[in-house]
Amino acid sequence: MTVPRRQFDTLIIGAGGGGLRAALQLSRAEAHVAVVSKVFPTRSHTVAAQGGVNAALANVRPDNWHWHMFDTVKGSDYLGDQDAIEYMCRAAPKAVYELEHFGVPFSRLDNGKIYQRQFGGQSMNFGGEQAARTCAAADRTGHAILHSLYQQNIRAKTHFFDEYFAIDLLHNREGSILGALVLNIANGEKLVIEAKTTLLATGGAGQIFRTNTNALINTGDGMAMALRAGIPLQDMEFFQFHPTGIAGKGMLLSEGARGEGGYLINSEGERFMERYAPHARDLASRDVVSRAIVTEIREGRGCGPNRDHVLLTLTHLDADVIRKRLPAIRDLVLTFANTDLCDEPVPVFPTAHYTMGGIPTNRFGEVVAPIEQGPEEPIPGLYAAGECACVSVHGGNRLGGNSLLDIIVFGRAAGNRIIQHLDENRYHQPLADDCLEPALQRLARWEQTGDGESVDVLRRELTVAMEEHCGVFRTEEVLNKGVEKVIALQQRMPDVRLRDHSQVFNTARIEALELENLMDVAVATMMSAQRRQESRGAHSRIDFPERDDVNWLRHSLYHKTTQSVDYKPVRMKPLTVDTFPPKPRSY
Ligand code: FUM
Repeated sequence: MTVPRRQFDTLIIGAGGGGLRAALQLSRAEAHVAVVSKVFPTRSHTVAAQGGVNAALANVRPDNWHWHMFDTVKGSDYLGDQDAIEYMCRAAPKAVYELEHFGVPFSRLDNGKIYQRQFGGQSMNFGGEQAARTCAAADRTGHAILHSLYQQNIRAKTHFFDEYFAIDLLHNREGSILGALVLNIANGEKLVIEAKTTLLATGGAGQIFRTNTNALINTGDGMAMALRAGIPLQDMEFFQFHPTGIAGKGMLLSEGARGEGGYLINSEGERFMERYAPHARDLASRDVVSRAIVTEIREGRGCGPNRDHVLLTLTHLDADVIRKRLPAIRDLVLTFANTDLCDEPVPVFPTAHYTMGGIPTNRFGEVVAPIEQGPEEPIPGLYAAGECACVSVHGGNRLGGNSLLDIIVFGRAAGNRIIQHLDENRYHQPLADDCLEPALQRLARWEQTGDGESVDVLRRELTVAMEEHCGVFRTEEVLNKGVEKVIALQQRMPDVRLRDHSQVFNTARIEALELENLMDVAVATMMSAQRRQESRGAHSRIDFPERDDVNWLRHSLYHKTTQSVDYKPVRMKPLTVDTFPPKPRSY
């Protein structure tokens, strides 16, 4: 049966902040834009971002974009590309004011200016005293941004395909990306969305780990689609563990809690971060704080009957500050830990939070990759923005508050680049029916039922393997075993079957398709981690404890077709200022 087709100037896959910011730019320029989202847009994971968005507004303490840039480069453990970092930090104030004008209800200072809180890794004057750079809407900043962007898109007449799942990118024989095959989750109908340009904005892949802060939807769909289209993934070994997940459960307790004055203690009641980061203490960068927590526990200073967590305490703070600045996390802790953080400390442990790696792009959002072993080039028609992309502004370790910034700055930049492309390329390229075949076959596989392996069991085993073999601290032995395990799990995929013909819902099909995506992203992550023989940012090797700039100051690229990893240089040269050369990193 022929699959129906619709045509748009731009197809955006994913309706989080990155996708919606790009869509808005395009719709306002009168482009015909389709946004495909597997959930209703305001349920995208941006909604869960708590603490805020970084911009050097200097509303609370002196600040400027160049200090922000320094902190971001240092935070990245010098793996971030300095042209993109300069671009992002310079663009930040304007981007935040734009959000304000879109209707984001930022918290306010008494003088009416946007409230800015302290976050980890922020400094004044290139490594001096703590800065206050994170613009917050209480602790629901992502929620406020996502809803405002959605409303602005409705006003700008962006066309939404809500609850449609993207199966795969479609390309012609010359390799130009010309849209995607998507599935209407409600009724199982297929649709080809043909587009002159396609933007992947599908978010991260935190669901490769058992304990994580991510929504269930964060299954790395765009990253896996890129891999299947022959595009490598960059820097996948760098996965961020947020220091303060609710112990045993993983839900995020914003860094804003420490920014407002909370701190961590071990079983001896000691403020242990003073030993690991004498200057910044609890507001050191996330990789440093996560390692410190795990070290305390390993050395026997964990809290609780099993000594398996530390405590985050805010009890010394004025309860009114907590109610005003941190209402959502107070609710979260009441619900999931049965504790009122105004009265008692909360058990915390690092939890998988953010995919620093992803689809390689330049600062215009163009996906840039080697085509068939050749030099790196933009893939015609394909763009990526947000957590699924690696531009790379976060390098080895992202600073808190830079993810919301990344999505709005690079969503906008990608939108602008696409507008330019559409001006120069006015007509659709033909997409022959046989170009749909691989995507249709992938879907057909999940139209059959029978007895075999279960999606749920395999997904559970995968996330446990990732947690056990690719955690905060890594060694060659543990990673080798991890690679063996995830590859063996992936090899079991052909035996997976959806059960009971009469009962199969489309959601079961989606879960199977998501599991395929998770498998690809997990293998990319584990293999890239196994190969990198140094410690940098969030990738901490006990057997290679030092950063090694001579051999490893380079980005990794994992290729699915050959299951191999190769490397490319870091873009060390900023746009207008001097390079920040690698230095020992302490807080
Ligand atoms: O801790 C937080 O509020 C998270 C912020 C972020 O990941 O940027």
